Amino acid sequence: MRALPLIAALALSAAWPALASRPIEFDEAAPSGGALVLPLGTAEELATRGTMLDPEARAAVARALSAAEFRYRAESTLVLRGIGPWTQILIVGTAGDGPEELRLQNLGGIAARETASENGPVAIAAAGLGDPTQIGLGARLGAYRFDRYRSPDPERPRRPGEDAPITLVTADAARHGAAWRRRDALADGVYFARDLVTEPANVIYPETFVERTREAFRGISGASVEALDVPQMERLGMNAILSVGQGSVRPPRMLIVEYRGPGASGPPIVLAGKGITFDSGGISLKPGANMWQMKGDMAGAAAVVGTVLSLARSGAPVHVVAIAALAENMPGAAAARPGDVVRAYNGRTIERINTDAEGRIVLADAVSYAERRFRPAAIVDVATLTGAIVAALGSDYGGLFSRHDPLADQLVAAGEASGEPLWRMPLNPGYAAAMDSPIADTRDISDGAPGAGAGAQFIGSFVTPATPWAHLDIAGTSWRSSAQPTAPAGASGTTVRLLDRFVRAFRPIPAS
Ligand code: BES
Ligand code: ZN
Ligand code: MN
Repeated sequence: MRALPLIAALALSAAWPALASRPIEFDEAAPSGGALVLPLGTAEELATRGTMLDPEARAAVARALSAAEFRYRAESTLVLRGIGPWTQILIVGTAGDGPEELRLQNLGGIAARETASENGPVAIAAAGLGDPTQIGLGARLGAYRFDRYRSPDPERPRRPGEDAPITLVTADAARHGAAWRRRDALADGVYFARDLVTEPANVIYPETFVERTREAFRGISGASVEALDVPQMERLGMNAILSVGQGSVRPPRMLIVEYRGPGASGPPIVLAGKGITFDSGGISLKPGANMWQMKGDMAGAAAVVGTVLSLARSGAPVHVVAIAALAENMPGAAAARPGDVVRAYNGRTIERINTDAEGRIVLADAVSYAERRFRPAAIVDVATLTGAIVAALGSDYGGLFSRHDPLADQLVAAGEASGEPLWRMPLNPGYAAAMDSPIADTRDISDGAPGAGAGAQFIGSFVTPATPWAHLDIAGTSWRSSAQPTAPAGASGTTVRLLDRFVRAFRPIPAS
């Protein structure tokens, strides 16, 4: 790609992928030259980790660390120049607590971000730190950038060395290849989700979401991509998603991505995602300020497809289906009106009081179709569903709602371990009464019940009680205003890491 002449690149810009990050490699020796990242939890670790430094260089680093009063706290950094053959030696503190896996990912993210403008290779001294593939994963996640619409800056041309590899310097480097395939695939899944959430709604709408998915899955064995179009959805009776999409010139789609890995038998886990490619509110129009953020109202759909991409690219022995309910919620002459009544896929009728409560409507068709078609072992839906969950949990926790404790427990555990924590919220069956309609089977919004719980209750009412089901409200976690070690500000790609882990570790839910 880099070799294309500029004119071709511009002509191709619609299909231009976000730039690749530095490749990650594992080696027993550091390349000579470039940047050296030296993680240190104490002053003493310099002796064991800094073996690539000759005694003179090591003494210089030790002097610099004490002169700077470096504290070794996780995520603190110190740049040293002019020592040994390196353009810079970046010291990164590692002292701190929390799961080792997440600490290593944060270390990798900081190393990649702080050396991003280095014009040459980067070596990370990783000996004795634990699984180096976790550092590599963090490096890929932290190095993410989205610059496909930025014209090259003549003041600061990109230099070829900025794409040179990051080498994790570790003993028995060859052993890490297999594990790396899995981490690399996970980073690909997160990148997929971040890209789609960041892309504007004039680029990503239901049909192009499907195209991107087909491209991503091309040639992956065990995976199939299928998209229901409007006539197919009409025949199936998916009038709920059709109602949401009818105000837009971009027709809705129900995207189904199935992956069956080697040796995986039995029913799949279904991951259903809200895929509103733009949420204007519809006739119940949102205020203008910050409406642009609703280009990201398909983060749930991006997360579930990104998860299956990660699982499929790494050849995981699992059976999993992503269903993305894709529609654009727009006002217009053909748009649904407040008060419209529609019959969902499972036959239940919905009175649509507020057209801005569109996520639950498209998911009603998605989860009921998933249940009937796949008889799944569990259904987990993922949605940027409510502002109420943002008010309740902010951007650090996703909201979890479920009637099935063993399923909720597995999701909480996966969230904790993956650094994408969930907080369980009450799902009171009483909320259903607050959604009674005088003329239809249910209303879309509640009279008095708390917003996030009412939305969850509504979606759950389209799944039979015996089927293990959970709802994740990621409205607060899908977009972050400030950078984290493993993510720049903006689209977080949330829930791919959580679901990847959840699906791999899934234990069937006993009938209750
Ligand atoms: N997509 C929004 C929810 C949202 C809000 C996501 C803020 C991300 C950030 C959703 O479709 C919506 O409009 N929800 C309404 C529901 C209400 C009409 C019952 C809300 O939360 O106000
Ligand atoms: Zn929405
Ligand atoms: Mn809405």
